[in-house]
Amino acid sequence: MARHLITSALPYINGIKHLGNLVGSQLPADLFARYQRGRGNEVMFICATDEHGTPAELAAAKAGQDVASYCAELHEKQAEIAAGFGLSFDHFGRSSSEENKQLTQHFAGVLADKGLIREVSENQMYSNADGRYLPDRYIEGTCPNCGFDSARGDQCDNCTKQLDPVDLINPYSTISGSTDLEMRATKHLYLGQSQMKNQLNDWIDSKGDWPVLTTSIAKKWLNDGDGLQDRGITRDLDWGVPVKRGDQDWDGMEGKVFYVWFDAPIEYIACAQEWVAAGKGTDWERWWRTDKGADDVTYTQFMGKDNVPFHTLSFPSTILGSGEPWKLVDYIKSFNYLNYDGGQFSTSRGRGVFQDQALAILPADYWRWWLLSHAPESSDSEFTWENFQQSVNKDLADVLGNFVSRITKFCRSKFTEAVPEGGSFSDPEQALIDDLTTKVRAYEGFMEAKEVRKAAQELRSIWVAGNEYLQAAAPWSTFKTDPEQAAAQVRLGLNLIRLYAVLSAPFIPFTSAKMLEAMGASDDSWPGDVAEALNALPAGHAFAVPDVLFAKISDEQREEWQEKFSGTRD
Ligand code: 2FM
Ligand code: ZN
Repeated sequence: MARHLITSALPYINGIKHLGNLVGSQLPADLFARYQRGRGNEVMFICATDEHGTPAELAAAKAGQDVASYCAELHEKQAEIAAGFGLSFDHFGRSSSEENKQLTQHFAGVLADKGLIREVSENQMYSNADGRYLPDRYIEGTCPNCGFDSARGDQCDNCTKQLDPVDLINPYSTISGSTDLEMRATKHLYLGQSQMKNQLNDWIDSKGDWPVLTTSIAKKWLNDGDGLQDRGITRDLDWGVPVKRGDQDWDGMEGKVFYVWFDAPIEYIACAQEWVAAGKGTDWERWWRTDKGADDVTYTQFMGKDNVPFHTLSFPSTILGSGEPWKLVDYIKSFNYLNYDGGQFSTSRGRGVFQDQALAILPADYWRWWLLSHAPESSDSEFTWENFQQSVNKDLADVLGNFVSRITKFCRSKFTEAVPEGGSFSDPEQALIDDLTTKVRAYEGFMEAKEVRKAAQELRSIWVAGNEYLQAAAPWSTFKTDPEQAAAQVRLGLNLIRLYAVLSAPFIPFTSAKMLEAMGASDDSWPGDVAEALNALPAGHAFAVPDVLFAKISDEQREEWQEKFSGTRD
């Protein structure tokens, strides 16, 4: 049995996310986790809320709450929404946990011992109007790399370059808008990423199978001009992991916390410790320490492209630099952006569908199917209501839903609510089995390769093959002349429903469960031999006609939603 450690980028705590956030990391990670579990492999699927840093502080202030209770509340909300979408985390942790605090301080201590952290006395932006040092997120200005005029102090959203606030041209405070900023001397810690350059380069070069999107971004920041610079890993904030060297105080670092991007990826590990603390497991080291059994683990990370530099350069610097036997990522699957109806999703402007709103109007599987089958893999993709309506109505309602409804209802009307007996499979059935065998093996290949869109296409073609068979075999006609043969055709059709439920579970888990329940199927094991899998439900096995699996989206609904989500969310 293979062992898969799977992590999805940790969503920021500051508010409910839109659908673009879901498709860029959590959803494909869930697809892969469910697939690997379906194949009988051992899976540890981890996610958490990313709770530190200025976004959390700013959001809490806006909500009029203290930051700790704001984070606790939003964590619960995000956990509830994740469950609503069927995200099957083994644990959904919090980067503000005690475990993460200790582990982050541990890494800082070890890295300092290895000479990879240096103290830098630097001038930092101080806002006279706000009476405080401004952390990077509180400063915006023009990107020195691409000229984008709202680049944040830590990263440019337009060109993805990691920045330091002092790099910005014409900077201003995002708290007050004030440009009355001055530089004052203060001490900070820097992670010596640049010393790791060759090691990181060799490591990335050894990953020939990574998506081009991942390696191209990593290589760009590694080798372009001033690419890999040492990064400041401390900030002047109250909320965060206090700067310590292991469990020792750090001289001159009083009142400072680690930069959120230093502690957030460490939470991938700490989350497994939280999983143990929550009583869900006993041995986190088996997943994370190569000296304690994690050497046979395959570790896959899922994330949006803006997260790639932190996962290919910064976090590996922490892991490799520690010299300790931590598990390093084996494969990084990254995604482009999902746009919304001719523009960008915008959290601040309330443009696009937020995750809670999506679940309020339609069941999770409708969204899962559309998002995954349109995952922004090779380029950005776009959500439009027309495309969504078409995809749901055709793929889910006409192809899959209709197949299930037709065969179960026909069986109930002409035979009983049990798998009919008689007849035998002949050429058309064998042809279908051969065709499905090829398709199922291709589907497995795409799933293993994390080729999300191709996997969705293949699954759809598996559904279509069943429909075409049914159309050609036409048991409703056969029944008139040869009821025995019609019985064999229907038996195959009912077994196809069970097979489809098993194969479709990673994409549409809720519907898959309904299909299995309707078929009274206790065996949900992955099909090795397709012919055998199509005999799993024997003659006489009782089933029930399920309720409509997917309702079609009407033009009126589409127009209503299009209007509703174009504007501003309160
Ligand atoms: O971009 C984001 O949403 C970040 N919160 C992702 C963090 S991933 C990990 F490193 F913690
Ligand atoms: Zn830029």
